[in-house]
Amino acid sequence: MTALFQPDLLKGRVALITGGGTGICRGIALAFARHGCDVAITSRKLEHLEPTVAELRALGVRAIAKVADVRDPAAVNDAVTGVVSELGRLDILINGAAGNFICLAENLSPNGFGTVVDIDLKGTFNVSRAALAHLKAQGGSVINISATLPYLGTMGQAHASAAKAGVDSLTRTLAVEWGPHGIRVNGIAPGPIDGTEGVRRLTNEQSREGAIRQCPLGRMGTVEDIANASLYLASEAASYVNGVTLVVDGGLWLRSARMLGEA
Ligand code: COA
Repeated sequence: MTALFQPDLLKGRVALITGGGTGICRGIALAFARHGCDVAITSRKLEHLEPTVAELRALGVRAIAKVADVRDPAAVNDAVTGVVSELGRLDILINGAAGNFICLAENLSPNGFGTVVDIDLKGTFNVSRAALAHLKAQGGSVINISATLPYLGTMGQAHASAAKAGVDSLTRTLAVEWGPHGIRVNGIAPGPIDGTEGVRRLTNEQSREGAIRQCPLGRMGTVEDIANASLYLASEAASYVNGVTLVVDGGLWLRSARMLGEA
């Protein structure tokens, strides 16, 4: 893989990445490690974490796994405290843990709606809140993984669209409240990212081909696309960027609602 950033971009920093064992967030964890960052990853399931921790350590950084459900504030607090006591500090938080499925609103139970809001939105709040005291110690960067779903009326996504719209709102509020502590809070809204569980769960072959056809850049995203955006936002290169959600989707969402034939 071609290195686009200096290899010591995040040297001496410690990142906590929720959902970091798999998918996009595993890619962010590996990219951070390749740039000198020590990394802690969390998931509900230890088996999602252990293989990635081994990969991270093989890159020469310190890496640890913490089992915690982001819906459980006490478990989240324990995990964050454990990370700081084992790795010494916390500079970067990636709120990546998420849950989703396709279901029309008319078929969605209140608990189904609430479960996704609990994981995506309340989970982002719970982890950010637990991390605040540690981020304050030297300043830092929070990146909330969002989605482009709420920009349009995405069918079957009432729960996830509402949750991610809430995440974007939280990004802006925390950017304003925490900026004075030297903590920047931003988001990334990925388009469909090839090979991830999100794409496996939410698309079929036909919709993937449609996304490639509609995307102005003519392809699906890669995990590296999101990892590179995360490296930028987490680093000093983005030292004056605060409160934005960076869309990394090749321009797909701009075109999705405006297909007037095959022009
Ligand atoms: N369609 C409709 N409702 C669904 C559903 C589906 N495919 N999957 C779950 N639900 C509903 C359940 O029926 C339940 O509601 P009920 O009690 O009224 O029946 C509610 O959601 C909670 O489901 P449960 O399976 O108990 O929740 P969980 O905490 O074990 O799992 C999920 C959380 C549902 C988000 C699960 O999909 C998950 O764990 N996902 C994690 C990984 C993931 O989604 N990655 C993709 C990121 S894009």
